Amino acid sequence: MDRYAVIGHPVAHSKSPLIHQAFARATGQHMSYELLPAPLDGFLATAQRFAAEGGRGLNVTVPFKLEAYAMAKERSARAEEAQACNTLAWRDDHWYADNTDGVGLMRDLTHNLHETLAGRDVLVLGAGGAARGILGPLLAKMPRSVVLVNRTEPRAAELAASFAEHGPVAAMSSAQLNGRRFHVVINATSIGINGDVPENLWPEHPFAVGGLAYDLVYADVPTPFLRWASQRSAERTADGLGMLIEQAAESFVLWRGVRPETSPVFAMLRPQA
Ligand code: ATR
Repeated sequence: MDRYAVIGHPVAHSKSPLIHQAFARATGQHMSYELLPAPLDGFLATAQRFAAEGGRGLNVTVPFKLEAYAMAKERSARAEEAQACNTLAWRDDHWYADNTDGVGLMRDLTHNLHETLAGRDVLVLGAGGAARGILGPLLAKMPRSVVLVNRTEPRAAELAASFAEHGPVAAMSSAQLNGRRFHVVINATSIGINGDVPENLWPEHPFAVGGLAYDLVYADVPTPFLRWASQRSAERTADGLGMLIEQAAESFVLWRGVRPETSPVFAMLRPQA
């Protein structure tokens, strides 16, 4: 039986085994998918041991996405663009690094949420690894503009500059955002599910009519960003559960050559939706 796993620290609460096991059942793939906890200083040793024991592929989560990228002998173009890896596939004698996060988000936005990105104005909050991971696939959808705003402004300027050849992306200060409206606002900061939103940094009225607020993290209750967005008349909100499932589906395609349906898995993980 082909073995796959999600490697991380911590990893106990990951939904990836549930997702991939459901995909495997639905597509008739003979494979197992488990949790692979690694010590903070033991990513490489754990991944190599897994391969030596016959492991065929890994999903990589916090905090190992950069280490996974660095150690891989072969990389996809989208992993290179993101400079991070969330999916590893064992090829003969080495790991191949891919990144399905950005394409997973795009599929959730366009396919599941029916969001037109072409010609739209998009605001990305944050300029760290998560923001970098989504910019290439986002700009490929031909938005009218992508604006980055970040607590540390030079970091946003640097990120925008490194993607300038991919499309219309610019860094702005919060003052420059005044009066601008966006069709899609994506939270790519690490504020997560318990942090406080930076009220003074984010614009007071960012949403265009029909605007969508999208949080890359997911939770069973509205995240701080989504609560903030609802108070600022975002007409639609979504957390990152759809992205999690779609990035998993893209990993599954890479490993097994079969595309699983994602809507039954979304319904399984969020039955009230
Ligand atoms: P990740 O890989 O999750 O993106 P990261 O690379 O450390 O993690 O980036 C975290 C992002 O969240 C950064 O944009 C960070 O802003 P800074 O560049 O100014 O550090 C942003 N962030 C984290 N906590 C924040 C907070 N309390 N308010 C505003 N932005 C925050």
